[in-house]
Amino acid sequence: MKKILITGGCGFIGSHTVRRFVKKYPEYQIVNLDKLTYAGNLENLQDVETEKNYTFEEGDIANLEQMTSLFKKYDFDSVIHLAAESHVDRSITDPLVFIRTNITGTATLLHVAKETWKNSKSNNLFYHISTDEVFGSLELKGDFFYENTPYDPKSPYSSSKASSDHLVRAWHHTYGIPVVISNCSNNYGPFQFPEKLIPLFINNILHNKSLPVYGKGINVRDWLYVEDHANAIDLIFHKGKNGETYNIGGHNEWSNIDLIKLLCKSMDQKLGREPGSSEKLITYVTDRAGHDLRYAIDASKIKNELGWNPSLQFEEGLNKTINWYLSNNKWVDNVTSGEYQKYYKKQYSI
Ligand code: NAD
Ligand code: DAU
Repeated sequence: MKKILITGGCGFIGSHTVRRFVKKYPEYQIVNLDKLTYAGNLENLQDVETEKNYTFEEGDIANLEQMTSLFKKYDFDSVIHLAAESHVDRSITDPLVFIRTNITGTATLLHVAKETWKNSKSNNLFYHISTDEVFGSLELKGDFFYENTPYDPKSPYSSSKASSDHLVRAWHHTYGIPVVISNCSNNYGPFQFPEKLIPLFINNILHNKSLPVYGKGINVRDWLYVEDHANAIDLIFHKGKNGETYNIGGHNEWSNIDLIKLLCKSMDQKLGREPGSSEKLITYVTDRAGHDLRYAIDASKIKNELGWNPSLQFEEGLNKTINWYLSNNKWVDNVTSGEYQKYYKKQYSI
């Protein structure tokens, strides 16, 4: 039986990854390790929490003692590492927690994995989930990010993720631990914390609150439905080559303002509002400091070598996402009120 540690499984992408692995691979034992920061929500995994092959452990990836005893307890053969501080705006106002979790936390996990696996004969893998932001920023009409694009991170968040990628490669090169890394573009879909653009704006439109567009709204992002990312993670985990990096993206570039207008139009239809009424909520605000202009991924390698393709067109994915948020109002209310943090206490009698 494979024993897999998934870190950050109570977050957005982590919860989709955990759900996929628990349901698809009953023969694997999945341990979800999460610190339950503001971004971690056990409600995201209610549907799998009683499955026999699933265990939740609360803990901090930057705590060496905790990680050492966790590896002793389960003797993991692989790690899928998603735990991170993930929001660029928070990294601008509070950078040090990003350094601790994303850099020290990743180094701590690598160290403990290396120590655990040094005499091991089984197939080990440390799979690190990273971001396209490590490559920096592209011109509006420029090229794409490739696997060999030089790193040029610009925000505290992206710099901390770039550092963690370098650490993973260093542990591979120096100690020979088997690794793969993937760098993905912007994800969207159910269970995303409503601080990120799409869920924040869906919620604001619903409650007739203003839509704060940074700068002129011309920045471009390449959007991918979260389950397509989880599918890519599954493929890379099973078929990725030791020491390799894979870019993941939707070839789906939208300027923020075009995306926001599409969202407004769709929400007007769904809420039965006068066409154009949600657009009136758009408010241009001071730009994000150091705002990266454009991200765009060339995903040829994962397509050609592993046969991955995104399954959903953007309009379809966005439609599913809006429907999910509209019919899971309670989830959003719990998250915005802080109620979700009580779920853990109730569930685990603390
Ligand atoms: P998220 O913020 O929704 O979730 C992060 C999870 O990590 C939370 O459950 C949180 O409690 C946990 N966590 C934070 N600090 C921890 C610590 N010290 N110890 C243990 N757990 C801790 O993040 P997300 O958007 O799901 O991103 C997951 C990963 O994917 C991150 O590594 C991120 O850099 C990467 N990524 C995200 C995107 C995106 O668009 N969201 C795109 C590409 C890559
Ligand atoms: O590219 C991958 C990255 O995508 C991930 O590594 C990050 O974890 C993830 O948060 C995301 O980063 P972004 O900064 O691109 O995502 P965010 O949703 O915060 O912002 C998307 C764009 O929308 C960005 O250009 C900033 C803009 N924006 C965002 C917010 C929250 C606004 O104009 N107004 C807002 O209120």
